[in-house]
Amino acid sequence: MRSWKASLVSAVLVSQGTSALNNGIGLKPHMGWSSWNVAQCNAASASYALDTANKFISLGLKDLGYEYINIDDCWSTKSRDSSGKLVPDPAKWPNGIKAVTDKIHDMGLKFGLYGCAGQKTCAGYPGSEGHEASDVAQLASWGVDFWKYDNCYTPCQQNPRPQTCNSPTGSTKTWYAPMRDAIIGAQNTRKINFNLCNWGRDQVWTWGADYGHSWRMSVDNWGDWASVERIGSAAAGIANYSAPGGFNDLDMLYLGSAKISATEEKLHFGLWAITKSPLVLGLDLNKISANTLSIIRNKGLIDINQDPLGKAATTFRPPGAAAPVNGKIYPYWAGPLSDGVVVGLCAGTSAGTYSVNFKDVPGLGAGSYTWKEMYTGQTGNGTSVSFNIDLHDMRVVKVTKA
Ligand code: GLA
Repeated sequence: MRSWKASLVSAVLVSQGTSALNNGIGLKPHMGWSSWNVAQCNAASASYALDTANKFISLGLKDLGYEYINIDDCWSTKSRDSSGKLVPDPAKWPNGIKAVTDKIHDMGLKFGLYGCAGQKTCAGYPGSEGHEASDVAQLASWGVDFWKYDNCYTPCQQNPRPQTCNSPTGSTKTWYAPMRDAIIGAQNTRKINFNLCNWGRDQVWTWGADYGHSWRMSVDNWGDWASVERIGSAAAGIANYSAPGGFNDLDMLYLGSAKISATEEKLHFGLWAITKSPLVLGLDLNKISANTLSIIRNKGLIDINQDPLGKAATTFRPPGAAAPVNGKIYPYWAGPLSDGVVVGLCAGTSAGTYSVNFKDVPGLGAGSYTWKEMYTGQTGNGTSVSFNIDLHDMRVVKVTKA
């Protein structure tokens, strides 16, 4: 079932004679792993994909819902073959792509690849501009389940085109339409989860649900606190655009980065979870710490992220609380769940005691409630909650009617 919003969009488009991307997948934020943060181009290989798939099983991640093994930029050779086809780099894919997707499917997991709407990918590999239908046919023949689509070397007034154009010809919307249409055209052969990686350009959240199943709403997460702050704070204003079938993508989880602390990882994961971002691990599962592992295996947080209602949490201002500050993570967040309400408390700018009366929370009201906090495991009943929270830490409380 698509949301009312997506269904309405589809109905409008059908009446205009265009078909919307509505292939029954992507109804929850996708969960998985991506190669890019691990070792950039060097991780775009069969061995990384298969090793990660094995780790999904041995670390219990598959059972928690982590599903997609996504290979990012640099998986192909630098040129297409004589018939215009993409060529998997033989050094990275000695038996081709299909041999890998077959194994990953046999393990009950899914496989994704990366492409670009311009002439070249961001790292300079062949882009799909002008090759959309043929590339999708190739993906379908390999059994690819997911396609991240970037926006480098796209139409530009500058010649030659730069990696990122400041004087574009057209917009990301016009550049992404041919690939969206190719994916719709191939839907009877293979349903592909389509991720728009256009860094929030052209207010993608306002049209992304008709073009893909998720869309990057910002430039990259660079693995530091400043990135968590920049992206997390921006998620508040666009929460309403996320719904089953189309989600704001806050970018890969850069957990285990030397640039953020163990405490900051909790806020990073918790905020991505309650805002219904895809949960895509951007880390080497061979080097994961016990702390990071316990965060990414937090079933309570995953269940909140995967709640079938698919509504993103946003900020609310309790009586007496200071106003939000642009670019800073506001302390008070809430969002509806199919069986309750999630309240997020973020110590984004100062450590302290953070309290909430349930009567002030959108979706709740006067009365007594049962609650559970997902990081500490604390539970309780009553009309309010209160936590001492360290700087850059977070508490995530699921509230249900007592
Ligand atoms: C862009 C994207 C990143 C990654 C790289 C690969 O920067 O935003 O997520 O895919 O390209 O080159």
